[in-house]
Amino acid sequence: MRLLSTLLPATCALALVVDPTAGHSIGSVAHSSFRRPSFFSRVSSVSWLRKQSPILISLPDAAQDADFASWLALQAARSVEGILANIGPDGANVAGQNVNPGVVVASPSRDHPNYFYHWVRDGAITMRALVDEYEKSGNASVKAIIDAYVDNVRSTQWTSNPSGQFGRGGLGEPKFEVDGRPFVGTWGRPQRDGPALRAITLISYARTLQRRGASIDSLRYLYDLIKPDLEYASKFWASPGFDLWEEQQGLHFFTAMVQYKALLLGQEMASDFSDEGAARWYHIQANGLKQFLLSFWDEERGYLIETLASPRSGLDAALLLGAIHGGSDAVFPIHSDMIITTLQALVADMRARYPINEQDSYDSSSFPTAVGIGRYPEDVYSGGDLENSELGNPWFLCTATVAHTLYGLVEHLALSNSGLIISNLTADFYLPFISPTPVMEPHYCDFSATGIWSRSAAILGFMPGSRETEQVISNIFHYADGFLKIVKKHADAEGNMSEQFDRQTGFMRGARQLTWSFESVLGATKMRERAVEAIEKRRAYFERF
Ligand code: NOJ
Ligand code: NOJ
Repeated sequence: MRLLSTLLPATCALALVVDPTAGHSIGSVAHSSFRRPSFFSRVSSVSWLRKQSPILISLPDAAQDADFASWLALQAARSVEGILANIGPDGANVAGQNVNPGVVVASPSRDHPNYFYHWVRDGAITMRALVDEYEKSGNASVKAIIDAYVDNVRSTQWTSNPSGQFGRGGLGEPKFEVDGRPFVGTWGRPQRDGPALRAITLISYARTLQRRGASIDSLRYLYDLIKPDLEYASKFWASPGFDLWEEQQGLHFFTAMVQYKALLLGQEMASDFSDEGAARWYHIQANGLKQFLLSFWDEERGYLIETLASPRSGLDAALLLGAIHGGSDAVFPIHSDMIITTLQALVADMRARYPINEQDSYDSSSFPTAVGIGRYPEDVYSGGDLENSELGNPWFLCTATVAHTLYGLVEHLALSNSGLIISNLTADFYLPFISPTPVMEPHYCDFSATGIWSRSAAILGFMPGSRETEQVISNIFHYADGFLKIVKKHADAEGNMSEQFDRQTGFMRGARQLTWSFESVLGATKMRERAVEAIEKRRAYFERF
């Protein structure tokens, strides 16, 4: 953060220039002309940091929320169970059905829709969650499952399939039969996120094993599996493929974000194995991706778009999934302004899109409320059911993903000592969480003469401990809880979740016991724990004064 006060007219005491891709102040005007037709184009004022007496932020009242708190704890355990039940060969839902060891079945559903397959994406994302479980618990049976997955990666990589052979495009194949044979039907292929997600999972497993005492040399067998996936990501990131929803051919934000993260982590891995040439190559390609990722910002629309040159609106839960599973601290972390303004636009669309959301759009408080979230506005995939099969619905995993992103933002804000910085991009998101809404200074500070005007400049800043900052942290936390409460409302009494819930009735639809639904709720719950810890740290800090 750079103080520009010497350059500014007297009324504009302080301006911060923020990098909206990174979500923190950078003191440069490199990203100048971000435009967002919003409330603030009327009052593009710059206010200065306002110091107020510190107030303590409150976590939700435990008594009032006891029901939710116990559900959360229970649902985390059920989600792990739900995941394990879908993994071969012995998972409760798949045992005796020819599922290879370590294969993650997307759902036990065999018709309307048939999800009884091994998707590379679903498998990698789920195993990443199990690696976290193992890191935490050291549980040997979880380790055995991850090891079986690792063995399965080797055979999957070498299985020739309709996308190609090993070393010739075959790694882009999105799904396989559960017994290891290639899936030969027509499909949206290749999908280029799979190898990157798998590399991220295997690298995180290698790091976990290292932290538990394994020598780097003993992990070469993992690097041998990771490297082909890194090679694939590094060579094909600029080539079009199908998106994670398996529908659109093109270049996608989610895919690029996970490729970027894989190469960033891969570069370090390669160095650790003294594979210097590879490390340099991954470094160069990661830099290329970093630049490329900026092209997903749509200045006219004022949010990120999922697929370049697509006729769709571009809004998509995949953008948030990209920030959760990909990116880096500097490239679209989940708290960055561009991700947050995109979340805001997505939620606004979904609020009005599904009739079921009407009942959730109002509550006694005047703060924004959570609603059910679908994949993207134009979605017409109803989950494979024969009834009402023309319209899309909210998804468990998309709703949990919004909660996850918001908890990540809360953690970031709670750990930050720079207060709350509201930029032109995020004003529409943050201001409704402040009550009474701050009055905008009616004057307009034109910096064009000094050459430092930026539309992404911060327009309002509040000190740590100010009523506004602390209110925002605690209100966003409650807002995030709201999305998990929607999940709770539509899951069944045993904690099962299908893929979707009906846009009219809220009843579950689509593939039952979807592995990815469990993973996403588990992920959101973990991020919630981190947010709570961060809030408690902050409170302890303030209590010292
Ligand atoms: C199944 C795919 O997995 C899903 O993402 C897609 O929307 C439907 N087929 C319809 O194409
Ligand atoms: C359809 C989803 O669109 C896709 O992302 C997923 O991989 C498959 N279902 C399997 O869950």
